[in-house]
Amino acid sequence: TGEVLPPAASWWREERRADLLKIGEGATPRYVYHLPTVRQQARELKSLAAVDRLHYAVKANTHPAILKALAEEGFGFECVSPGELKAVMAVVPESAPLLFTPNFAPREDYEWGLSTRATISLDSLYQLENWGELFRGKEVVLRLDLGRGLGHHEKVRTGGSGSKFGLPVEQLDTFLRLADTHGVTVRGLHAHLGSGILDDSHWGEVYGQLASLAERIGSVTFLDIGGGLGVPSHPGEARLDIAALDKVLREVKAAYPHYKLWMEPGRYLVADAGVLITKVTQTKGKGNGQIRYLGVDTGMNSLIRPALYEAWHEIVNLTRLDEPATALFQVVGPICESGDVLGTDRRLPEPQEGDVMLVAQAGAYGKVMSSPYNLRDEAEEIILE
Ligand code: LLP
Repeated sequence: TGEVLPPAASWWREERRADLLKIGEGATPRYVYHLPTVRQQARELKSLAAVDRLHYAVKANTHPAILKALAEEGFGFECVSPGELKAVMAVVPESAPLLFTPNFAPREDYEWGLSTRATISLDSLYQLENWGELFRGKEVVLRLDLGRGLGHHEKVRTGGSGSKFGLPVEQLDTFLRLADTHGVTVRGLHAHLGSGILDDSHWGEVYGQLASLAERIGSVTFLDIGGGLGVPSHPGEARLDIAALDKVLREVKAAYPHYKLWMEPGRYLVADAGVLITKVTQTKGKGNGQIRYLGVDTGMNSLIRPALYEAWHEIVNLTRLDEPATALFQVVGPICESGDVLGTDRRLPEPQEGDVMLVAQAGAYGKVMSSPYNLRDEAEEIILE
């Protein structure tokens, strides 16, 4: 683990603050993405010498400019639906590697996926038992459930019998027999334990486990140890130490040099590159003024992470960034649910209607998870080059 850093990127706090204020003075809410930050994060991950191929987990943010920038950085793309595959294929060059990793998807999705150039992952016995003829003669990736999950919240941990993902390891032999029967070759093994992981030793363990299972199979040429690379959100949380991660991975690679190593990060590339810009609408006091609500013009309809995972996003009053934060506020949106809270107990300057507010670290799982709830307009997206 690395040194203690401020919880979010400095691009919005310093270099681009004036641009964001100007955007905020226009129509809000708006998502704003800073491409140089995406590229910087991409280059940091490319410094992982042990990793042979990086796929961007498109589900985190599907903005075409971000897909293009990551293709330029040499990334492949991990997609979970025909929609994601189509969005990627529309903007990236033919040469960019594609990985299709659906889960509980209908048969048609697999059929369609097989008609593209994507590498496809299977994650249950059902797919070969029932649709075996679809995959005859194909090379596939097998997603395994290693029996445990990790991540920032119980809802984003993807392992163990409480999770719907992956083939349990105890069914591996049955899967291999079915693959044999249907003329299917397992070229890769895959595991993704969850999202928002800040422990840099975990990927090495997964890598070692997959490698030892691959030894039993024979046809495997690559191992995909998933994404899940976290970014610190709370003040004082340490960043992942990418050099330490690389060291762990290189150690495993020294023992299993015959497998290519793949990873598929989403959040790490885009979280800090995006902010949600909104405006103060009004304030309210309750309990003799003890509890103060600060209303902004969007809420869980634009950013559902606080409501769904109690995720912590830094919130600042951009108009008054240099004024002292004097009181505690509950920052809430205009949606008709008590869960429509973007931040609890935030110390902020005394606000005024029309102040521009910024919700940080909103580049991952923000816009893509937004909804038309209450029929409020969805936040448009703006790119800063
Ligand atoms: N690979 C697979 C198979 C995945 O399911 C995911 C994320 C990733 C890669 C990328 O994970 P990342 O590097 O972004 O952590 N909506 C939640 C996160 C859900 C993640 C779903 N799968 C959130 O806002 O925290």
